[in-house]
Amino acid sequence: ADRVLPHPPRRLPLLGDILDLHVTESSQWAMRDAQRYGTMFERNVLGTRVTYVSGPEEVAAVNDEKVWTRLLGVPLRDLRSVAGDGLFTAHNSEPSWAAAHAILAPAFTQSSMRRYHDSMIAKTALLIDYWTAAGPDAWLNIPADTNKLTLEVIGNVAFGHDFRSFENAAPHELIVRISRVLKYVNRAAYSHPFVEATVFRRARNQHRDDTAVARSLVDDIVRARRVDPSAGRGDLLDLMLSTADPATGERLSHDNIRNQILTFLVAGQETSAGVLAFALHFLSLRPDVVARMRSEFAEVCPTGDLQFDEVGRLRYIRRVVDETLRLWPVAPGYFRKAREDTRVAGHPFEKGEWVFVVLLQLHRHTDWGADADEFDPDRFERGRVPGNLAHLYKPFGTGLRACIGRQFAYHEIVVALALIVRAFDLVPDPRYILKVEETITLKPQNLRLRALTR
Ligand code: HEM
Repeated sequence: ADRVLPHPPRRLPLLGDILDLHVTESSQWAMRDAQRYGTMFERNVLGTRVTYVSGPEEVAAVNDEKVWTRLLGVPLRDLRSVAGDGLFTAHNSEPSWAAAHAILAPAFTQSSMRRYHDSMIAKTALLIDYWTAAGPDAWLNIPADTNKLTLEVIGNVAFGHDFRSFENAAPHELIVRISRVLKYVNRAAYSHPFVEATVFRRARNQHRDDTAVARSLVDDIVRARRVDPSAGRGDLLDLMLSTADPATGERLSHDNIRNQILTFLVAGQETSAGVLAFALHFLSLRPDVVARMRSEFAEVCPTGDLQFDEVGRLRYIRRVVDETLRLWPVAPGYFRKAREDTRVAGHPFEKGEWVFVVLLQLHRHTDWGADADEFDPDRFERGRVPGNLAHLYKPFGTGLRACIGRQFAYHEIVVALALIVRAFDLVPDPRYILKVEETITLKPQNLRLRALTR
């Protein structure tokens, strides 16, 4: 449609604004440009127009499900090589999305978290033992270790698999493969097939090998369960094998079930691990926040044996998680596509055109106040949140295709943080300066801390 939006000033013929892209830090560059060019700007990428929105007015418009819908952006479309038609990477039009959503959604409600609670507690205890054994002088690789935790949790509750992450220093092969897939897809998203076939030939071949191996490792897990159904204990894999779609009476196919498991590993592991790592970074610098978390924990859970019902009462710890997700939404944005001709902040969009919501910038919009760049969990106190919170804070996406794992992530992260700060004093590396790494999701690069047993 005919609209004129702010854009980088040095537009080149044919190449457009590609000098203004960053291959490995694309979300942080989108935030940087949003700060330069405003809440709605565009880049021309080799002839394709990309519109970026990051103000509450624009975000409210594109989140309207009557007019806009989810678009599978380029990086996620490329993830279909590994997660296929799993929930996260399914196209809106694929019937397998609705079937899997109907079968799986009941397992992700807040009350369903009761079933996963013990497992989350037990796996966090393993992390605590692992850090205790490392001793007070060890510099812990925080992103690697939070990944171990979330892998153990999701492996256990989704398909009853013990990856033994805390028994081995090196990550499990499946995780090595999946991490490399995410990294490759993040970099290659806007690359040209010719470039991938030449300059990045080895990486591309490795990528093909990684996706094939990841799929076959998970195929084995699904097949083993079919052979011995008694091995499951009511986990998500059991649910998928035994439940029919209420609308059609059909079961999910083998391929679809494998894709859902890969989806949980892709969507539900690095994300939660990233939030935990960012939170631990902030907490290592803020003993005042840690002290309040501890006193809340002592009040809510005097026995020290954290029960399911108590987790919801850890309100301050929850605000720590919310504030972490505000500053570093580990899924840093999402795509929306117009279902009809429409307008956003007065600018015309034709049916089929799309935008990228820059969560990193929306979450630092001036409506959050002049201190929007500061870490302050109290801003999520009732009565203090901005009146337009619903359009200023979207870490789990929006609408029908919003995150199915939201309650899961909150429960898992609140439990882990509560038990970690009870067990340890976290010591920062005085030389560490936060640098954020992007592998589709975000994580604090090379964050290392020491953990002193209290
Ligand atoms: C979708 C964020 C944890 C499973 C999404 C989306 C976002 C998101 C933003 C929508 C993406 C889009 O519109 O393109 C997060 C964050 C997490 C988290 C920030 C951690 C704090 C989890 C967990 C699971 C999970 C723990 C599973 C156990 C999914 C699935 C979808 C999804 C399956 C696709 C839903 C659908 O389209 O039907 N997530 N997620 N996520 N997430 Fe999460």
